[in-house]
Amino acid sequence: MRDYTADNITEAVVKEYASKTSDPRMQRIITSLITHMHAFVKDVELTEAEWFAGIQFLTDTGKMCDDKRQEFILLSDTLGVSMLVDALSHPKTGLGTESTVLGPFYVEDAPEQKNGSSIIRRDLSARPTLMRGKVTNAEGAPIAGARVDVWQTSANGLYDIQDKDAPEWNLRGRFTTEEDGSYALISETPVSYSIPTDGPVGRMLDATGRHGMRPAHVHFMLSADGYRPLTTHIFVKGDAYLDSDAVFATKDSLVADFKECEDATLAERYGLTTPFTLLEYDFGLMPAAHS
Ligand code: BEZ
Ligand code: FE
Repeated sequence: MRDYTADNITEAVVKEYASKTSDPRMQRIITSLITHMHAFVKDVELTEAEWFAGIQFLTDTGKMCDDKRQEFILLSDTLGVSMLVDALSHPKTGLGTESTVLGPFYVEDAPEQKNGSSIIRRDLSARPTLMRGKVTNAEGAPIAGARVDVWQTSANGLYDIQDKDAPEWNLRGRFTTEEDGSYALISETPVSYSIPTDGPVGRMLDATGRHGMRPAHVHFMLSADGYRPLTTHIFVKGDAYLDSDAVFATKDSLVADFKECEDATLAERYGLTTPFTLLEYDFGLMPAAHS
């Protein structure tokens, strides 16, 4: 058949692709992709000019990507797709710590540090925060030797890799839990910050009247032998953007009190002066799925 019309082209395209692939997963994905894309074009009655603007937008998104900037991840995040994939992969069970997006600013192989040490490598005179707690299994038993990877923005709202004046590995570090499952580190008190808005994603947010702010948070990535890896954040209770996160990544169970602490004994133990900020948060890991 050659006479394709708005009424018959979808079926023809689906049939052509589905009949050429023998991989059932590929068949399911390509069929659904074509069906939904065609339905979208029909639904909004897409004009040629709008179609071209869309192509230009995706082209600009690709051109914005390099080893430090991933505009496609940012696009997925701001459209809520990253959190949808996360929700499908890690459904809420009420057991273990909830996950949330990785984000585009994780860097592998951060320095390995001793518990209680600081990841502040440039002092922007924000009040230090002692972050400490335990990593346990679903029954609350401690997990020794778990890896705890931490990263966050500085008081200027930038990650070290976005900030040419920041020393390498500023506000990044890797810790290993002690025999009792405990971890402890010193960092800055996180602030709310804007995702990068100088590219196509920023134009999309502007065009739709959305802001690019994320509520203050610290990123954690945890892993231990025999457990499912966990990628998550801890958000600062009371932040103004908790209900309007630009990337839809907040979860109530991940919001914690970063409280002012006057405990002189604790301060002395970690080389701090009072008052400092204290975050106490325990993480629960789930057993790895059996294959
Ligand atoms: C972040 O928290 O680092 C982040 C997550 C998603 C998009 C942009 C930034
Ligand atoms: Fe972040």
